[in-house]
Amino acid sequence: MPDILITDDGPVRIIRMNRLDKKNALTLPMYEAMAQAIGNAATNSAIRCLMFAGGPNVYCAGNDIGDFMKAAQGGGLGQPILNFLYALARCEKPIVAAVNGNAVGVGTTMLMHCDYVVAGHEAKLSTPFVALGLVPEAASSLIAPRLMGHARAFSLLVMGQPLNAQEAKEAGIVNLVVDAAATDAQGLAAAHRIAGLPPQGVLVSRLLMRGSPDEIVARIDEEAEAFKVRLRSPDAQAAFMAFMTRKK
Ligand code: COA
Repeated sequence: MPDILITDDGPVRIIRMNRLDKKNALTLPMYEAMAQAIGNAATNSAIRCLMFAGGPNVYCAGNDIGDFMKAAQGGGLGQPILNFLYALARCEKPIVAAVNGNAVGVGTTMLMHCDYVVAGHEAKLSTPFVALGLVPEAASSLIAPRLMGHARAFSLLVMGQPLNAQEAKEAGIVNLVVDAAATDAQGLAAAHRIAGLPPQGVLVSRLLMRGSPDEIVARIDEEAEAFKVRLRSPDAQAAFMAFMTRKK
């Protein structure tokens, strides 16, 4: 089975992360597949809404840490990651996410680009960037303070303090908290509700609410420059090595 499963459920394109043995840690081909699925949806008038999903009690453990170690030797985040982040920022169709289990790093920051997030009771959102020697990405340094205010964004993005499903709802990332087993079905129901609305009305309203994506894209690039430097830092190298050699 591929690590990313793309299925169209009528007008809803489901992008399901499916590297369950690694808790959906994202590799470069996974980013590429997701970027393509978003990009193709843009030109397919039959698709009216996108939905991110994971597996049972597994959303996304963030970037693959082995890949981060390789990226530190190379030129930085890597084009597939940037392509995915640009696709998210520039996507004109509404995006739903159905989140249960851990959403770490980009697993959480991708949600800040979504329009409607359903979280299972057991969802846990965290962005341990700074503890890993890194800095926030996906324009989260811009979006999170706007969404939840500086104090809560600092706690999440800098201190790495996780949010449970209810806290994430209070912070404005999550719309609806549901029983874990109902997460996917409730996400899909929301996606179909959105897909059933007049598409031009949805598109224009969303664009008016979000404004131009250029500012978001510029922040993605700015963060990526800082990220590249931090990837090579002794702090990051030590944190990656500690994860890769940890005893369970
Ligand atoms: N990169 C690479 N491998 C990862 C990974 C990641 N980000 N997250 C999990 N995995 C791997 C583990 O190494 C383990 O592999 P193994 O079975 O070959 O040993 C497997 O996925 C299962 O992970 P495990 O830690 O046993 O699952 P868990 O349910 O106990 O914990 C997490 C889940 C997500 C809390 C934990 O795996 C974790 O903290 N991962 C790292 C998250 C992270 O820091 N991401 C980067 C953010 S910027």
